[in-house]
Amino acid sequence: MESLGLYPTWLAPCIGSGWIVGIIATIHVLFSHTSVGAAIFFAWLASYANRTGQPKYLEFIRRYGLFLLVFSYVLGSITGPGIWYSTTVASPRGISALIHNFVWMWATEWVFFLIEVTGVYLLTYMATKVDRATHLRLTLIFGLAAYTTMLVIIGILSFMLGPGKEAWFTSGGYRLGFFGANTFAHLAMRTAFMFTMTALVGGIVASRFEDRDLREDVGRKLAWLGLVATAMGGLLFLWYLRTLPEAAQVVMANRLPASFGPAMLAAVVGMLAYFATWLLRPRFLHPVGAWAATVGILLLGLWPEEVARESIRKPFVAGQYVYSNQVVARDVPGLGIRSEMPLLEAKGFLATHPFIPTSLRTVHDGNRLEAGRMLALIACSNCHTLERTGMRPLGNYLGGNQDVAALAGHLQATVGTGHVLYMPRIPLNDVEARALATYLVTLPAGGAR
Ligand code: HEC
Repeated sequence: MESLGLYPTWLAPCIGSGWIVGIIATIHVLFSHTSVGAAIFFAWLASYANRTGQPKYLEFIRRYGLFLLVFSYVLGSITGPGIWYSTTVASPRGISALIHNFVWMWATEWVFFLIEVTGVYLLTYMATKVDRATHLRLTLIFGLAAYTTMLVIIGILSFMLGPGKEAWFTSGGYRLGFFGANTFAHLAMRTAFMFTMTALVGGIVASRFEDRDLREDVGRKLAWLGLVATAMGGLLFLWYLRTLPEAAQVVMANRLPASFGPAMLAAVVGMLAYFATWLLRPRFLHPVGAWAATVGILLLGLWPEEVARESIRKPFVAGQYVYSNQVVARDVPGLGIRSEMPLLEAKGFLATHPFIPTSLRTVHDGNRLEAGRMLALIACSNCHTLERTGMRPLGNYLGGNQDVAALAGHLQATVGTGHVLYMPRIPLNDVEARALATYLVTLPAGGAR
């Protein structure tokens, strides 16, 4: 039997596997961005402290480093593998595409990450034990290593949206996949926002200083960092938008939740106001406010941003050739990859998916509902939950349609043709369309959308 190269589907009821990845990734972004930004800020502050002969700043570096050890390096190191585990089951072929293209880039990233982790320990525990020149060198190495990990990951993230150069499809090669207009805009934007987070989280550390002068002095430096970084980040975000592929622009303009724009604007303006207040009234800096602002950016800034980044890639999960439902949608001669669409068109899912119970391979009256559910699981559940809650609940989109034949025809005319920009083409033959529709009409229709 000819079969599709698919894996079992990981079903995350009521949330959706994509959201689980998203939740872990959002938290990870906060930790990782904070620490990369802090690494570079430390390098600057350490050299400033040296030049001006003010070793008191080293105490701030030591405390912030200690805080990062738990905040970023323990929690970040849990959520990092968490992303690997969750994406491996949520999107095995997406992750496989990335590994096959970028295995050496990832190996490079891990080497630098190792240097980064060793670096944060060294510069925290050695702060008062080594001479200043050595400490300065440690902070520089830490800063460079941390930023290199970010550079590598962003090239890979940008590839998820689409290969850097169109020529990659025919010639392959990591450089064509890695470097594109979006890579640099994306890197620049994240570089700016990572300093926003460094300033925010730095506020948590600085606000706990007993020495008022040092607290307000460091606080002012962080507030400036936050102000400039956030304003730059806002501008660079506009540049980033202009480098998005056309399909992504359309999805961005039409299919993001109405709250996306206002949430992003609120996040940027809120941050600017927060840092400005901080600058003008250093006494305003308080642990509770600093924590609240950090959680605020997590919920109002990072979560919508990560969800949007996931949405605008649709219908693909990686490289514009692996659909989110894991089917390979086009030939990639550069990697010797063949599209699976012809096989799917000819035989359908139920006959060619390797992980389908034999009893569902042929549809009849007795198993139609179950076969329909299986189709929804393998073809739709990567992007839609089958319950009322979570990621784009499928029931919400069907408008309470109870007419199986009409719904089957509708599915064939929409997802079946691939004319819906943000959904994969899911060729549904008459049998599969009817089975899927039979199941879909049983779904709970959600509230208003
Ligand atoms: C690649 C991810 C993805 C997959 C897989 C997917 N969809 Fe969608 N679907 C979307 C997105 C994104 C939207 C738009 C959501 C929004 O705007 O709120 C959507 C919207 C819809 C809509 C609303 C009508 C419309 O055109 O906006 C229907 C109906 C729908 N999907 C059905 C399905 C069915 C049935 C399947 C499985 C056979 C499926 N989808 C698979 C991503 C996907």
